[in-house]
Amino acid sequence: MKTMHVKTGREYDIHFERGALQKCGKLIRSVTAARRAAIITDSNVAGFYAAEVRASLSAAGFETSLFVFPSGEENKTLATIADMLSFLAEQSLTRGDIVVALGGGVTGDMAGFAASCYLRGVQFVQIPTSLLAQIDSSVGGKTGVDLPQGKNLCGAFHQPVLVIIDPDTLDTLPAKFFTDGMGEAVKYGCIKSPALFERIEQEHVHDFLDDMIYECVDIKRRVVENDETEKGERMLLNFGHTLGHALEKYYNFTRLTHGQAVGIGMVLIAHAGERNGITAPGTAKRIEEVLRRLGLPHTDPAPLPELLRAAHADKKRASDGLNLVLLREIGSAFIQKVPEAELPVFFGCGTAEGEK
Ligand code: GLY
Repeated sequence: MKTMHVKTGREYDIHFERGALQKCGKLIRSVTAARRAAIITDSNVAGFYAAEVRASLSAAGFETSLFVFPSGEENKTLATIADMLSFLAEQSLTRGDIVVALGGGVTGDMAGFAASCYLRGVQFVQIPTSLLAQIDSSVGGKTGVDLPQGKNLCGAFHQPVLVIIDPDTLDTLPAKFFTDGMGEAVKYGCIKSPALFERIEQEHVHDFLDDMIYECVDIKRRVVENDETEKGERMLLNFGHTLGHALEKYYNFTRLTHGQAVGIGMVLIAHAGERNGITAPGTAKRIEEVLRRLGLPHTDPAPLPELLRAAHADKKRASDGLNLVLLREIGSAFIQKVPEAELPVFFGCGTAEGEK
């Protein structure tokens, strides 16, 4: 068992333990005097863990209720949030009560968002059950939903009061979702830890899974503590995501999973960094090799100019041009703004605007 303390505006602990689900009620009781606990989960996870979590919460003296929504990114909508909020109101949850998010990234993002706006904010606990949620989305307080215009366009920063990570839950995770989460683990190595990257390159993940989860969360903790609301350093966590999101969108979220798209995005940006003399030669090749080893794709036939247009359209709300996360070498990342007109030259797929 290990714990980690996160020093954000509202501070909280992350509890790492195999089998922690069975005692989650006691762990949650240690951070709240709430009378009621509303568990929010999806139709995939409910059958595996809802009964166990509910029993543990009841044994710790909580009055429990359970809201199950249909699984899948296509249900990460304001309509599902409206159903969640109605449920919390029907259960007469008060400001002193607590929401428990049990599941993967979609569940954590949505339950956290519902908790951020129900009664102008109630406490919530994250119990992530996918690798992606354990190493990334359950930590740092980003919550929200997709809009028809794009992913995660509506949300709030709302930190949990506790995160409970039980790696045993990954045993029931389909292999393709585990592999998907590994895209984010590679990302952490690329931006902050050559040692983590080397371990993923050389060892079998299941031989150091608990260490890897802890290390990824520790990297995320440090970044989020420095920049809770993503004004600067937190953007590094988006390494590979600009083109990754564009790829996901290009295929209408049907052909590539998030981790696959981010993997390809990391390779594309590393190649661009190399051709501009920013990234150490051979870096893109190392990322390609590690993705191949993990069973993730490293290339895609989608036309780069179209991806750049999509990426720029996606980020227009934030800036003129793209804030690209680039590597100097594995473990060292920085942000560089590239104006829209220079993007084709930067990526080696065209001439600068105005040139013949
Ligand atoms: N997943 C990126 C972040 O939390 O900032």
